[in-house]
Amino acid sequence: MPTDPACDAATSQIRAILTGASAGAPVPVVRTFFDQATFTATHVVHDPATRQAAIIDSVLDYDPASGRTRNDSASAVLAYVRAEGLEVAWQLETHAHADHLSAAPWLQGQVGGRLAIGADIVQVQDVFGKIFNAGTAFARDGSQFDRLFHDGERFRLGSIDAIALHVPGHTPADMAFVIGDAAFIGDTLFMPDYGTARADFPGGDARMLYRSIRRLLSLPDETRLFLCHDYGAPGRDHFVWETTISAERQGNIHVHDGVTEDDFVAMRTARDATLDLPRLIMPSVQVNMRGGHLPEPEANGTRYIKIPLDTL
Ligand SMILES: [Fe+2]
Repeated sequence: MPTDPACDAATSQIRAILTGASAGAPVPVVRTFFDQATFTATHVVHDPATRQAAIIDSVLDYDPASGRTRNDSASAVLAYVRAEGLEVAWQLETHAHADHLSAAPWLQGQVGGRLAIGADIVQVQDVFGKIFNAGTAFARDGSQFDRLFHDGERFRLGSIDAIALHVPGHTPADMAFVIGDAAFIGDTLFMPDYGTARADFPGGDARMLYRSIRRLLSLPDETRLFLCHDYGAPGRDHFVWETTISAERQGNIHVHDGVTEDDFVAMRTARDATLDLPRLIMPSVQVNMRGGHLPEPEANGTRYIKIPLDTL
């Protein structure tokens, strides 16, 4: 294991959070909504004492053939939030997703919550702002979000302590959110039998991903891990989005204990070279770089998604 001082600092902060939990702070309740069209897990986490909640990585349904958006997935989340009487404090994005559109602005309009993402979203906005020739009307300063988290920043969900960790690699701006004993780790690790996230998008880096993953794997064993995606795996016909540190360390097919950084980078790079781009990358990136807001309407009142030819 690396002995990165930043890693040790975060781990000790998380140990303090977990100690707080065992000392009487409530254990967060997590309910997950799985979108089978994009294999995305939206997590709703709440503090049972105050009923404050965070919605993490919500999904706006999108049909690429017709260009129609729908709120079916987000409506299921909304119904749960209302039925449970939750007060939404946060709409959290682990990163600018390339495989689904975020429903955070729509959900924010229904139930509120501060929209937050990692501070390095500005890098992602810069890269994709250029690729999509978004023009000067598209601000690349993160101002579409209510809060930009830096590595190690603390926040609270009701009475529960939380911390944001910068875990780049899949994209430069990926964050993990540790809320009480639950870590929402975005696109880093997937289930042990599936492996890890790809690292070949613009700004991605397999070496950085390895280091972020080792950092996550240094979290205390009792941390619950909640994933952003599951794609199934050979021999498993159901979807799973929760696992443990020890299961990942012992059994992750890409990055179990003993896999070196160079081995991982060679494997990840070779595998990424075989992968097609996600079906919804064009609309997803253009919407998510804007904090989940659709592009502004043109003079005729219609909003458009661009497709850059021979670029990605
Ligand atoms: Fe992703």
